[in-house]
Amino acid sequence: EQIEKGGYEHFMLKEIFEQPKSVHDTMRGRLLVEEGVIKMAGIWDHIEKFKNANRIIIIACGTSWHAGLIGEYLIEEYARIPVEVEYASEFRYRNPIITDKDVVIAISQSGETADTMAALKLAKEKGAFIYGICNVVDSSIARITDAGSYTHAGPEIGVASTKAFTAQLTILTLIAFKLGKHNGNLGNADFMRLIAELDAIPKRIEDVLSSTHDLVQNIAKDFVGATNFLYLGRGYNYPAALEGALKLKEISYIHAEGYPAAEMKHGPIALIDENMPIVIIAPKKGHYDKIVSNVQEIKARKGKIIAVVNKGDTQVSAMADYVIEIPETAECFSPIVASVPLQLLAYYIAVYRGANVDQPRNLAKSVTVE
Ligand code: AGP
Repeated sequence: EQIEKGGYEHFMLKEIFEQPKSVHDTMRGRLLVEEGVIKMAGIWDHIEKFKNANRIIIIACGTSWHAGLIGEYLIEEYARIPVEVEYASEFRYRNPIITDKDVVIAISQSGETADTMAALKLAKEKGAFIYGICNVVDSSIARITDAGSYTHAGPEIGVASTKAFTAQLTILTLIAFKLGKHNGNLGNADFMRLIAELDAIPKRIEDVLSSTHDLVQNIAKDFVGATNFLYLGRGYNYPAALEGALKLKEISYIHAEGYPAAEMKHGPIALIDENMPIVIIAPKKGHYDKIVSNVQEIKARKGKIIAVVNKGDTQVSAMADYVIEIPETAECFSPIVASVPLQLLAYYIAVYRGANVDQPRNLAKSVTVE
């Protein structure tokens, strides 16, 4: 097992550090920057299905559901196809309206999640075209879908999903750009600019890992005794906030909530005092001015602010107790980059609390029961 961990103390840390490679592997052979092409046979062979779809419904659980929410932002922004994102467990029991004009995308690292599988079977029975985004090759979900794309992140052993999540975001980005380019909603100049930037994301992740690792480790020491956490973000980074909170809950057993930053004033703001740590994801591109005013509201209530901002940020940084800098990217890529220090934060808080990081209590890597 020590050999499999490759010198890391836990699989989770190894998998966090593998992300420059896993994201690159997800794109390998698909993203051809010089030719200006995204090659995805699963999409291309069924392009008419996607083109004529009334809507795309994404179904998933847990972290994969968070990836699905970001997929909604991506596909609606770049391909202008309506998207709904559903928890598989809710979808399957609420007699959903599905027709043969719907495309249903299931996202699952393991490809074995019982609720996702059952929801897919239901969608298939009702005539939808079903597409899988799985990490485990030849898994049950991969086998029952009409078509799909593997994430190729490599085996993920840690129960808390890390590299599978960023690989799912990479696949969803490729799908959104491919569909948008094909249906004419994403013009060629924007497409070329975005794919060049996507190609550089593994390098950005590498930079974030080296520039934030020691810092985040030190920040984690100050929060070992925390009992609650709030994670806030807007736009693409709202699901990233949900995912940051889930990571912390799962492995450190600290109660954490993710919220869209602007929703704070509709309830959670009542929780804020000097004992409440708040992680706020505030990159420059993406409602920055709005986030600044959310941070002011937190500051006025003495919340402890851990801000994830772009290099050179001044406004949010000036109000924050802790600042984690990440490189600037197009807004749609920021959840990939911002998630990395949040994974590290959850990891180190859990380690300092003496928790079993790779196999947290009550959790299984793949949930094959309802
Ligand atoms: C992620 O950290 C969790 N362990 C969990 O939420 C997981 O994402 C969920 O059970 C879905 O699993 P899947 O992607 O294998 O379907």
